[in-house]
Amino acid sequence: MATDRMEQIVALCKRRGFVFQSSEIYGGLKSCWDYGPLGVELKRNVKDAWWRYMVRGRPDVVGIDCSILMHPKVWETSGHIAGFNDPMVDCKKCKARFRADTLDAQRCPEKPSKKPGECEGELTAPRQFNLMFKTFMGPVEDASAIVYLRPETAQGIFVNFKNVCDTSRMRPPFGIAQQGKSFRNEIVTENFIFRSREFEQMELEFFCPPAEAMPWYEYWRKARLDWFLGLGVRAENLRLRDHAQDELAHYSAACADVEYQFPFGWKELEGIANRTDFDLKRHSEATGKDLAWFDDITRERWIPYVIEPALGVDRAFLAFLCDAWAEDEIDGEARSVLRFHPALAPIKAGIFPLVKKEGLPEIGHAIEKELSREFSVFYDEKGAIGRRYRRQDECGTPWCITVDFQTKDDQTVTVRHRDDCRQERLSIAALAGFIRERCLG
Ligand code: GAP
Repeated sequence: MATDRMEQIVALCKRRGFVFQSSEIYGGLKSCWDYGPLGVELKRNVKDAWWRYMVRGRPDVVGIDCSILMHPKVWETSGHIAGFNDPMVDCKKCKARFRADTLDAQRCPEKPSKKPGECEGELTAPRQFNLMFKTFMGPVEDASAIVYLRPETAQGIFVNFKNVCDTSRMRPPFGIAQQGKSFRNEIVTENFIFRSREFEQMELEFFCPPAEAMPWYEYWRKARLDWFLGLGVRAENLRLRDHAQDELAHYSAACADVEYQFPFGWKELEGIANRTDFDLKRHSEATGKDLAWFDDITRERWIPYVIEPALGVDRAFLAFLCDAWAEDEIDGEARSVLRFHPALAPIKAGIFPLVKKEGLPEIGHAIEKELSREFSVFYDEKGAIGRRYRRQDECGTPWCITVDFQTKDDQTVTVRHRDDCRQERLSIAALAGFIRERCLG
């Protein structure tokens, strides 16, 4: 059933233009994905909702946008070059590669009912594989020109801590947030866009006095769950899982995952960690730059502790999609619907003249022109009105606006609600306010 549900969601993504396989007409590039016209709107809305909640809506957080390529020494200092590894094994028979630490969750590609190593194939001894993508900067391809595609956005924030302090009025406790692409040469990619090699992250590094780290950690655990709930994710599909002591990174004082119940099981959506003063201390030692904070009120100097909520955009996209998708029945007819929160819906309103004549298309286009100044809307005058509604239901459009003959007399339209198919009459002048208010989230 779960596989079936996931297959249906993947098929819907293709059919409606949410997600396509990268380079599909060349046979596809495994684990890389392209976002289509609806997908790009949904993704943008997810990122905007995060930015509003984490940055613009708060006086204590500012944003940054760092380059993907950074000085290679950054990755030595952060520990990624030495330690950002996963253990890998190969099957000597079919040559497939597996992550040695999650063999139970993987399948032999030749005998999918068996785990790797349980078929006739023998596995090699595990060896460490570094997940960093390497490239060369400039025309000469030698060791001195090696640079890395960043595997996380966080390091760009740490190395700019002093710049932000020197140029803004921020003082701890405060945060720096970033959204952007990250790259990891994962040994195994899985579950559609859940784990890929090129993905986007939204990370906050929240710098605070050491003594306040645990209260802030508790604060962000709750705030991050609230964000998902506020955008309509069902509470029964979300949970916080605390990391056991032996799971914690050596620099981490506490860590929890926000997990979502995907059709393929409970999986990490977001990590929230108390990274202590590890990152700033290491960069300070490596560069000789003083990254301590001097508190001119208490006259104390300390290196801030960091609380880090780190979320993958693509993973959040998939969770919102899985949570929103449902099949129900309208007037005895099956329908597929995406019940997105209006703030996330790729299209906010469909605009449909009832017929293609007698001045109704002209009114429809005028409404389209007005609303599209602020929202993404979709105009359609072709086909039976029921079919037009159904199509928008599967795109996740919360409202369909129908222009009919009464519109010519009293400047009102019907607004049909996606979730319960209720219809109400609204004046054209009230439409923008109606949508705006419901998109606030
Ligand atoms: N700076 C901390 C950090 O990067 P992480 O747990 O490795 O922590 C944070 O990554 C989030 O990024 C994950 O919770 C997940 O949502 C997303 N993420 C990580 N690897 C991913 C991958 N290969 N594909 C898609 N998303 C990924």
